[in-house]
Amino acid sequence: MTNPRFAIAILAAGNGTRLKSKLPKVLHKIAGLPLLAHVIRAAAGIVPPADIFCIIGHEAARVRAEIAPLGTNFIEQLEQRGTGHAMMQCREALSAYHHVLVLSGDVPLIRPETIAALRDYHIAKAAAMTILTSQPPDPFGYGRIVRRVVKGVSSDIVEAIVEQKQLTPAQQEVGEINSGIYAFNVADLYSRIDQLSTDNPHGEFYLTQIAAILGRDGRPVLALRTPHASEVLGVNTRRELAQLDSILRERKTRELMDNGVTIYKPETVLIDADVTVGEDTIIEPFVQLLGDTNIGQECIIRSYSVLTDTRVGDFVRINQGSIAEESIIEQAAVIGPYARIRPGSEIGPEAHVGNFVETKKTKMARGAKANHLTYLGDAEIGERTNIGAGTITCNYDGVNKHRTVIGNGVFIGSDTTLVAPIVIGDGAYVGAASCITRDVPPDALGLTRPELQIKNGWAKEKRKRLEAAKQKK
Ligand code: UD1
Ligand code: MG
Repeated sequence: MTNPRFAIAILAAGNGTRLKSKLPKVLHKIAGLPLLAHVIRAAAGIVPPADIFCIIGHEAARVRAEIAPLGTNFIEQLEQRGTGHAMMQCREALSAYHHVLVLSGDVPLIRPETIAALRDYHIAKAAAMTILTSQPPDPFGYGRIVRRVVKGVSSDIVEAIVEQKQLTPAQQEVGEINSGIYAFNVADLYSRIDQLSTDNPHGEFYLTQIAAILGRDGRPVLALRTPHASEVLGVNTRRELAQLDSILRERKTRELMDNGVTIYKPETVLIDADVTVGEDTIIEPFVQLLGDTNIGQECIIRSYSVLTDTRVGDFVRINQGSIAEESIIEQAAVIGPYARIRPGSEIGPEAHVGNFVETKKTKMARGAKANHLTYLGDAEIGERTNIGAGTITCNYDGVNKHRTVIGNGVFIGSDTTLVAPIVIGDGAYVGAASCITRDVPPDALGLTRPELQIKNGWAKEKRKRLEAAKQKK
């Protein structure tokens, strides 16, 4: 067989009882992505998505909805009767392949290189089943590998995989564990899968039992031990979820630092797997960069800022405690401290969004400034326009949202309310404390202001009267 066809099956139907969660286990996230998505990415490094089969069952519709964009196939295991039972569901789908690599939806750190090593070993040795194993510091809870001993030396041949609960006292000493990742010759697997029994503490069909069945028939069952033990760690508890999340995030910060990003106190930052950061950007402690966030070069992201699905150009400064979501912040803009950039905002080059300023679906052109205490919603702000402190766009009439359009070089005085829909023309002025309800033409002044009254001595008289009234009591 010159070109054996490989499929990858991913076991993802279990309910993950030990996580104590309403969310299916494989949708729990580490480094911002569901466990199953990590496994699929690794699998997609080996075969195209059309050759990947995810076996789903518990909350199948929810898993399918979340994972469907990755383009894999799905096979439903209606009742979750064990890992062997899961593979029984794929018999027909896999009949078109020579070999299947089986991955676990809850073993997310596996890298394509390691899957490829398993595949190559399996092919080179013409095995019926090859088990990826490791020797972790604490093997408790995992199935153990019982190797055949030939003339006092343990060989590559595996006699059985024994689950934790079924270990004999002697087998408890075995430090080599089953990673739950295997390569099978499809014909070998499906000619014997019906021999699996439910004769075990959980009354399930254990896929692991197939090792002993194949061995009894003289078919070669081999173990390949990976030196990368952390890649095959599984997630069964919340503690393990946190542990694997930390491993991935540490990998991520290390990779960014190797590529020229300064990160102070990297153990305090939270950076998701897909985030990119340009050279010479500085990330201060307790920053979070989440989802599909891309940061340019020579930026500074100061402490306690949280950016989600946001694109940041070069030379941008994000000051302390700023929040941005689904937005674009262009070159050399200055944000915060304590700014809130909500979805659909586009902050132009060299624009400033200062403290306690909130933007939503708002586009600020080059050099526009809103430096203090302002709300800009559904607005468009022209080049070099200055928005005074305490300006509010009144974009909501209780039913609909309306737009505010402000031209170039406009000056909006402090404490202005702009009742949308409204247009302020280029070069216009709006006087402080105005409530603007009609369009202001270019170069005009818009002003609503009751006349100022000055009453000399009024305050002094008032105090006198109040004091006198107090004495009488
Ligand atoms: C399994 C192995 C164990 C190995 C460990 C590695 C068996 C019997 N045991 O144990 O030897 O050391 O993985 O992490 O296989 N699943 C289904 N359908 C089911 C049951 C489970 O798709 O009916 C899926 C789960 O969603 C999970 C994977 O199979 O992604 C493994 O199941 P899990 O219950 O976590 O098995 P472990 O106890 O971890
Ligand atoms: Mg598991």
